[in-house]
Amino acid sequence: MSHLSHVYMRGTPFEARALDDVSFTIEDGAFVGVIGHTGSGKSTLITHLNALLRPEEGRVIINGIDTAAENADLKTVRRTVGLVFQYPEYQLFEETVKRDVAFGPKNLGVTGDALEKQVENAMALVGLDPALGEKSPFELSGGQKRRVAIAGVLAMEPQVMVLDEPAAGLDPAGRADMLNLVKKLHQAGKTVVMVSHSMEDVGRMCQRLIVLNHGKIAFDDTPANVFSHPRELEEMGLDVPQSVKLAIRLREKGFDIPQDVTSVAALAEALLGQLGKAGDANA
Ligand SMILES: Nc1ncnc2c1ncn2[C@@H]1O[C@H](COP(=O)(O)OP(=O)(O)OP(=O)(O)O)[C@@H](O)[C@H]1O
Ligand SMILES: [Mg+2]
Repeated sequence: MSHLSHVYMRGTPFEARALDDVSFTIEDGAFVGVIGHTGSGKSTLITHLNALLRPEEGRVIINGIDTAAENADLKTVRRTVGLVFQYPEYQLFEETVKRDVAFGPKNLGVTGDALEKQVENAMALVGLDPALGEKSPFELSGGQKRRVAIAGVLAMEPQVMVLDEPAAGLDPAGRADMLNLVKKLHQAGKTVVMVSHSMEDVGRMCQRLIVLNHGKIAFDDTPANVFSHPRELEEMGLDVPQSVKLAIRLREKGFDIPQDVTSVAALAEALLGQLGKAGDANA
């Protein structure tokens, strides 16, 4: 995407510049975190990725398709990029789980055995028991409902999965399960773009972070490099992960903690390495 800007309610007193000259490229197979304060433009940005919003200013190119072009093949764009909204379970409406999951691919013209197979695969990928297929989605738990909604997007077999706050509103166990699911999607070969409020989550999981601030890209870098600007992040209303804060303080005390430590697990490993050395010196 290049020089993308988006203004809501242009020309009215409510005019809001949600995106301001945003440019970046996402490579196949990447796992990108998008983070920023409330209203920074995250949802507006990702709704451009599957052409639900089409650029008014700037360009979005998905696998060579310019989504603003008049004759753009939007069906292919939407088949390529699967978008999971925030709280997607509110959009479930079919009588059975299976039918809900089948809705997207059916709309794309998939029928018969192929449809059956795609639904089955998607349910397996999100860890839904096939026996739930005939149940009403409304009988399921919150976390399971969300899985159904995600399976519905996966069943269209998109190459790219874009998820807006997939773990929002779940309890700690549900959050961990959901984040594991997102990790699994990436491991299964999908390109993944995940919007999150949690620096801890994106720092631990993603290879690259895009930080939005008032509709502009503030940082687009590895988590370690982004977290090396704690003061700027704080000014944007964001906080570096606890593990990174602790690593900074330990370095000040003379511990040799690598710069790429961005998770509790990595910090623990670095510290144990140090303690091991201290132990050797005492022996
Ligand atoms: N449909 C809309 N009409 C008018 N203004 C909107 C609309 N949607 C978003 N905005 C405004 O555009 C800006 C960016 O909103 P957006 O929803 O993209 O932010 P966000 O980063 O996803 O926020 P959050 O973290 O709260 O989900 C905000 O100022 C918001 O008020
Ligand atoms: Mg949002």
